[in-house]
Amino acid sequence: MLLRFFLPIYRFLIRKIYNFKYRFQKFVLKKSYNVTHAIHEQNILFSHFKLDRNDGLNLINKVVTKLFKTSYQETKGMFSEHLVLFSSIAKNNKNIKNILEIGTYDGKTSLILSELFPTAQITTIDLPKNSKDFKNSYLRNFDSNAFVINRNKILKKSKRIKFIPCNSLELLNWKNNQFDFIWIDGAHSLPIITSDIINSIRLVKSKGWILIDDVFLDNRQINNIYESIGAKLTLDELSKSKTIKDFKLFKKRVGLEFSLPMVKKYIAVIKF
Ligand SMILES: C[S@@+](CC[C@H](N)C(=O)[O-])C[C@H]1O[C@@H](n2cnc3c(N)ncnc32)[C@H](O)[C@@H]1O
Repeated sequence: MLLRFFLPIYRFLIRKIYNFKYRFQKFVLKKSYNVTHAIHEQNILFSHFKLDRNDGLNLINKVVTKLFKTSYQETKGMFSEHLVLFSSIAKNNKNIKNILEIGTYDGKTSLILSELFPTAQITTIDLPKNSKDFKNSYLRNFDSNAFVINRNKILKKSKRIKFIPCNSLELLNWKNNQFDFIWIDGAHSLPIITSDIINSIRLVKSKGWILIDDVFLDNRQINNIYESIGAKLTLDELSKSKTIKDFKLFKKRVGLEFSLPMVKKYIAVIKF
């Protein structure tokens, strides 16, 4: 009874504090943030991997217009620099034939990958639909069946997409050196993210690519499946031990509102 009374008040206050903190950080950063400079820095990172961000922007714009009848803008839903990276890699690397996505979600990224890499096989994995973790995450507990039906409809649009329901921990049993390109976007928390990165290093071919979504550098826990510093801790150790030699962190989005200390996150790119 007491909980029913105080819970909404508690939630209301938390939301108010969050909004206040957000507006305050935006106000402070606005004075020094220069989006042109942020784009320039992003361009330099792209060129480190011999990629052209503008080429990527042009291609992803064409692809999402064709598939979803919308232009690419980082303020739209799940759109972010990962798609620009995929596109610029697709432009320059015609030899990418086998792709793995860890974390299918609604299937849209698999479909985009199949369009960007028109001769590649895309394997995408997600938790089995009846698992607790599947139902209890990403607001799927109300109607996980409808979610799965929609996802499968999207995946069926390309014959080159193969969906495998499994926990990514099972990648431990997959054979080495299979994929040219791996998109790690499943659970972002420890210990799963460490396992996903280590398995991907084993599964990727020499000269392959691994990209990792939602890398937080600080201010986060290690065991939150959506927001975690787990990837960063893992990448730092792998880098220290020289297991990975060439990795960079790209801003996930370049606009001011995505660069506030409380929200900013990155996409890691590892090139072998
Ligand atoms: C952020 S979403 C993926 C988004 C998608 N890759 C995209 O680019 O739009 C994360 C997905 O990973 C799945 N996932 C979480 N833990 C997993 C695990 N251990 N193994 C496989 N998939 C997992 C979740 O069920 C969820 O659908």
